[in-house]
This record gives sequence, structure tokens and C-alpha cells, in this order.
Amino acid sequence: MSFDLTAVPGPADHSYPDSEVNPYPLLLRQAQALLDDCSDLIAQMANLSALLYHGLPDLNWVGFYRRQGPAEQPVLVLGPFQGKVACVEIPWGKGVCGTAAATNSTQRVADVHAFAGHIACDAASESEIVMPVRLNGQVIAVLDIDSPIKDRFTAQDQQGLEQLVALLEARQNAV
Ligand code: SME
Repeated sequence: MSFDLTAVPGPADHSYPDSEVNPYPLLLRQAQALLDDCSDLIAQMANLSALLYHGLPDLNWVGFYRRQGPAEQPVLVLGPFQGKVACVEIPWGKGVCGTAAATNSTQRVADVHAFAGHIACDAASESEIVMPVRLNGQVIAVLDIDSPIKDRFTAQDQQGLEQLVALLEARQNAV
């Protein structure tokens, strides 16, 4: 008797799968159209939040936190979002959002309960991805997306969402 070892599920098989049809080419075209429509940052963040919340499966929160406060002690303040009510203020460097802002780098967290200092706004959240938004080289906000499913965000999601943030940055740099 022989066994087909390729059929044995490995750890990678338990991860959230990429969609059969990559949703990002369409989402990026829709985002560009929304951004072309209006140059106001808050309006753009509001529409991008709605676009992503309704355009991607298995999410429970999508929104922006904006940099506020003095340069030497900035904080992230809740901006346009979709989902349940959320924490209003996050210290720079704290939680997943504050870490993305302070390190100027995307945080893709497969299990929020394993992230030291994670700030639980919605108890349903199991995984999270946060990307910095930059203007003139400075982090001015973060885009935060939560899912009730562990390991929801794939490399495809990270790439597509970073491209979407780059569209927002380019539009703001052109204002
Ligand atoms: N979980 C985030 C806080 C924001 S909520 O998810 C909307 C964090 O750890 O920074």
C-alpha cells in the first residue's frame, strides 16, 4: 500500500485562501475613480473605507486613524470607518496601529491575540492588517482592517492594499 503524501494537509493549507479571482484590479480601478472625484482627504478616507468594507469578504472593521497632536508626542485619532464603534485615540507606537505608524511599515497580524499590546476594540477581531499612509515622507494616518477569521490577510491582500494606499498618497501629493 502507498500513501500520497502530497494530499496530507500541511500548516499552509489552513491559511485563508486567495480569491479565485483577484479582487484588487477592480478595487484599485474603483478606488482611483473615487479619488479622482474629490481631493478632500476625509471624504476620500470615508469612501475607501466603504469600498473595502463592502468589496472584500470576511471583514468586521475597516477605517483610518489620523496623526494628531504635537510632533514630539503624536497620537492616532479615529477617522472615517465602517464597522462597530472603535477606540478614539491610540498612542503612537502602541497596538498594531501605533506600531505601523511608529515603524512606518505594514503590520500583517495573523492572530491578534498573539500580538503583544494589541488593542481590542471589537472583540470579534481575530486578525488584522495595518498600513501607514504617508504625505511628504511623513506618516499622516494608518489604514486599519480587521477580520473575525484568523490569518485572514494574505500576501495578495497586503500587496493590493498597499497599492490602494499608494493611490491615496499620490492623489494627496498632487493636491
Ligand atoms: N486593534 C487596533 C486598534 C484599532 S481597532 O482594531 C479598530 C490596534 O491594536 O491598534
